[in-house]
Amino acid sequence: MKTLRDKTATREWRVARAPGMLPLLGNALSMGRDPVRFLSSLPRHGDLVELRIGGKRTFLPCHPELVQQVLLNARVFDTGGPMKEKARPILGNGLITSDRTDHKRQRRLVQPAFHPARIATYAHVMHEEVQAQAGTWQAGQVVDVNEVTQALTARITARALFALDIAPHAVAVIQHCLPVIVRGAYRNAVDPTGLLAKLPTPANREFKRALEQMHRLIDGIVEDYRTADRDRGDLVSALLAAEDPESGEKLSDQEIHDQVMTLLLAGIETTASALTWAFHLLAQNPEAEARLHAEVDEVLGDRSPEYKDLPDLRYTQRVFTETLRLYPPAWLYTRTTTTATELGGARLQPGDDIIISPYVLHRIPELFARPEHFDPDRWLPDRAKDVARGAYVPFGAGSRKCIGDVFGITEATLALAAIASRWRLRPLPGTRVTPRPHMSLSTGPLPMRVEPR
Ligand code: HEM
Repeated sequence: MKTLRDKTATREWRVARAPGMLPLLGNALSMGRDPVRFLSSLPRHGDLVELRIGGKRTFLPCHPELVQQVLLNARVFDTGGPMKEKARPILGNGLITSDRTDHKRQRRLVQPAFHPARIATYAHVMHEEVQAQAGTWQAGQVVDVNEVTQALTARITARALFALDIAPHAVAVIQHCLPVIVRGAYRNAVDPTGLLAKLPTPANREFKRALEQMHRLIDGIVEDYRTADRDRGDLVSALLAAEDPESGEKLSDQEIHDQVMTLLLAGIETTASALTWAFHLLAQNPEAEARLHAEVDEVLGDRSPEYKDLPDLRYTQRVFTETLRLYPPAWLYTRTTTTATELGGARLQPGDDIIISPYVLHRIPELFARPEHFDPDRWLPDRAKDVARGAYVPFGAGSRKCIGDVFGITEATLALAAIASRWRLRPLPGTRVTPRPHMSLSTGPLPMRVEPR
């Protein structure tokens, strides 16, 4: 990747205001109606676009250099704001919700659980689960690909977190509760009044029950692990063993609980949504699909993919990288300015919000030629080196960069290869797919017909 720093040192930034700002409401109506379309329309106005959501000053950096400036300076641009406060009752104080100073300590403690040697161990679980999934289908069957991938990543994440002996029970609870919690968290996050979550509606009651059930499950597991006191080779064992190299401190039971909840919420839906988009894109692009099939046939023969195959599954990995460009599950994340500062020539006040939208950035024609075109080969090393730093940020960047990026990529590559080596997924006539900007950027239900290859 090349840096734009030299090119932009003397640059005149184009700072603009989003069109259509209304008194009091600002751009809230456009954001509420169709946030993906509205935000995607803004880069043509400037490198940095100011919008108002209600009275709140919010900035959208549309130039990779400005994205880098925000993501690499967590002291000035911290995670925060009302979204984070609303997430706290659900996630507790884990990696996503912790404040900057505590986050540093937490990250040091959790990072070893994502060491490459650990990922190789989790890859056994991934291998077993994707192989089992690919073995369940009948020729001609119609499956909801979104449902299948959500269930698959839930099983994989649960088994990677908790050893095999307790996993089946945990998987059932997680599969039942997680979608309810994600839906409730989203309803709460987008409600500007904060009142809807307090009403005794059936949906809110279901959300509360699901949350309590998940908390109970995780408490029970942590207690069980403390009593057994042995390394089961899973993520929770790694969290229990973690010791801060600076202070020698370990994570408390409550901290482990909060990290587990965070990992479940951050890791399952994201990877599943991306995988679903990958199958949709492959079905729309027969040439890419044929190349994927050729690669898996050559690398795997009639075996199921394993961790050691990853370096050879290069096209499969490019398919996933390109899928994350077009449909990044974390299509938007935010920062809040902690102190008066300057960004791209604009003066920012403490409390101003910044929106980073990979979806918007990844479709700017100056950053990616023919941005709407699904072209996995744009990630060939020779071409990828021309992508500017800050232009491709599906996992974020800086100190808050996704801790599960390699986990997610490994899981998705193995799943794509395992399914593509046996099956072709065909769209049903008349199915229209439009991105749904919920917690993750989702396809919604995606029925496809399964054909043997
Ligand atoms: C394709 C799959 C995934 C995508 C696109 C994704 C995306 C992201 C992004 C963009 C962030 C940073 C948000 C910000 O800067 O505010 C993030 C953070 C995080 N992700 Fe992922 N993620 C994925 C998979 C996973 C998996 C599999 C796990 C765990 C098993 C995970 C756990 C986390 C955690 C704990 C954080 C917070 C990190 C921190 O603040 O230190 N993610 N993810």
